[in-house]
Amino acid sequence: MVSNFKKTHILHGGDYNPDQWLKTPDIWDEDIRLMKVAKWNTVTLGVFSWANLEPEEGKYTFDWLDTIMDKLHANDIKVILATPSAGLPQWLMNTYTEVMIVQQDRIRQLPGKRGKHCNTSPIFREKTNLINSKLAERYSEHPALIMWHVSNEFFCDCHCELCQKEFREWLKRKYVTLDNLNQTWWTSFWSHTFTDWSQIQSPNPNGEDMIHGLNLDWKRFSTFQLVDYIKNEISPLREFTPNIPITTNFMNTTSDIIKVDSKFNHWEIAKVLDFISIDVYPNWHGKREDWKLACEESFTFDICRPMKKGKPFYLMETTPSITNWMPINKLKRPGMHKLSSLLPVAHGSDSLLYFQWRKSRGGFEKFHGAVLDHSGYENNRVFKEVAELGDILSKIDEITNSTVKAEVALIFDYENAWALEDAAGPRENKAYQETCMEHYRQFWGKGISVDVINMEYDFSEYKLIIAPMLYMVKPGVTERMEKFVSEGGTLVATYWSGIVDENDLCFLGGFPGPLRKLLGIWSEEIDTLYDEDSNGIVLQKGNEVGLEGEYVSGFICDLIHSETAEILATYKSDFYEGRPALTVNKFGQGKAYYIASRNEDRFLRDFYILLAKGAGIKKVIDSDLPTGVMIQNRIGKNFEYLFVLNFTKDKKTVNLGNEEFINMQDGKKVTSEITLNMYDVTLLKRKRS
Ligand code: GLA
Ligand code: ZN
Repeated sequence: MVSNFKKTHILHGGDYNPDQWLKTPDIWDEDIRLMKVAKWNTVTLGVFSWANLEPEEGKYTFDWLDTIMDKLHANDIKVILATPSAGLPQWLMNTYTEVMIVQQDRIRQLPGKRGKHCNTSPIFREKTNLINSKLAERYSEHPALIMWHVSNEFFCDCHCELCQKEFREWLKRKYVTLDNLNQTWWTSFWSHTFTDWSQIQSPNPNGEDMIHGLNLDWKRFSTFQLVDYIKNEISPLREFTPNIPITTNFMNTTSDIIKVDSKFNHWEIAKVLDFISIDVYPNWHGKREDWKLACEESFTFDICRPMKKGKPFYLMETTPSITNWMPINKLKRPGMHKLSSLLPVAHGSDSLLYFQWRKSRGGFEKFHGAVLDHSGYENNRVFKEVAELGDILSKIDEITNSTVKAEVALIFDYENAWALEDAAGPRENKAYQETCMEHYRQFWGKGISVDVINMEYDFSEYKLIIAPMLYMVKPGVTERMEKFVSEGGTLVATYWSGIVDENDLCFLGGFPGPLRKLLGIWSEEIDTLYDEDSNGIVLQKGNEVGLEGEYVSGFICDLIHSETAEILATYKSDFYEGRPALTVNKFGQGKAYYIASRNEDRFLRDFYILLAKGAGIKKVIDSDLPTGVMIQNRIGKNFEYLFVLNFTKDKKTVNLGNEEFINMQDGKKVTSEITLNMYDVTLLKRKRS
């Protein structure tokens, strides 16, 4: 069963929709023959199969799935079985209209599309629980089954009356009294004090969407309700198949999971899953340089991994060639498939799974990339590149279950993001996500692993924690940060931190609120600059971090006073010229830095190089990598595995220092340096000392 399988193989395969070809079942044998050629060992089945499993309410047709599961097993191909709730059969949508979501504008979605179901609807919960029970009971002993895939890419919140009612119940449990709620939401502002629970509605652009506490609680409730819904889907799976792990595929993180307007706090969803899995669809060869995009993708993977610390995550979907839903769907250039696919693996994924095996003949996705084209044969570029990668993956099985160990953590927190971007002021666009990425990027390509965590995460294993714009400080966070620093850790905080509590109420008594003692500063005012304007920071001579000269700053400039902190740099101009712009506060054994303004990239680069050195952070190899080349390691029991990836079109040389490595592809010894051609990949390993 799964435990044996995942210990020995990287999963290679993806979404398989044989039920689109029920009228031509001969194609199935050809599918399986070709899957073997493409070195597939796993398929995801049944993601949108509900209508073929239950064509009429209460009438089940599992025979086709039995056949395909058996055929796959006979060919040593494992199955990730999906619960079918993302695509609703007509009988369900049309008979029980309440299962469709009501949008924020209070219009109910008509039958159609996918993923648009209400997470509260009792009838929907009943129907999904029932079909899941049938599936789990039927396949509980099936040897091909290795994992459950619950539904598909949850992305909707629902504003129907049932959800509104549940929201009010959730609020009652949280606040107990209306008075409490009014106080916390500060509703006396504009005279909007609630006098009856029934007056509370989910945020709505035509009505109330300016009570920040309400907006925040709605997102928390929507997350709670989704998790509760998922638990309902999961319960029969746990009952009939207690040993089969459960996941749900998170959406393309660069457009959703790390997006500040993401509707759900994925950390909460993670709690009810056994493994994290993720779908990514980066548009390679687009307007941005590929290595910058690769860096953003890496950020995504570095969030997924810490969500289940010590465990691999699974890349559940990516396209083997193109998507069909971007404005321009550019082909991956030769070599990019291999390169981009090894990126998640480098970051800790134990799988590479695609959407999809065979292009559908009709429907919205008929032109979406697939391993098998409409031509139906293997003699084409995409197929060959997939097979080549399958071959590479089959030779690096030993990396399964190895992990990435990071000494640096960057806090990117959903609730902080929601509250921060919802706030009116100090400027409209606060660029939280971009700012986190700016800090993160300084480590990418430097051979320093980073975990992207939330503010509730255990800080104790890190040496350096970066918390850009920690606007919201939840209870307990200050104490944990103080402990971290006093025990020798290094903390970097920035402007717009320590402003509100977990309810989005401003801290009184001076910013950065509870972080004031740790950072040793007081923020008196905050200035925002037009995009075309700038200020600058001037480094103090002989400052303890070792930075010199001047850097451009702007966007937000925090006017701070040092209380116990040492001043490292001051502002260059304007009425706050000469006032602190960069400080460090020695706190116990450690140090807490405060960057008061958004500074040019060059500042972050220089600053973090020195800081990482000072904090004793180890690099994977002791040399500087050329721009656009990245190195990421995974730590196994006896060996450490290094992925060196060249995301540029140029030939690049990487200096390996004095160490000796083994090339994982040919088993040969490698010393001193390696050369990577355009989009090249080198996989190395070395014995752990
Ligand atoms: C998502 C879905 C898939 C498919 C792909 C297409 O990831 O989960 O079913 O629609 O997008 O890119
Ligand atoms: Zn609803």
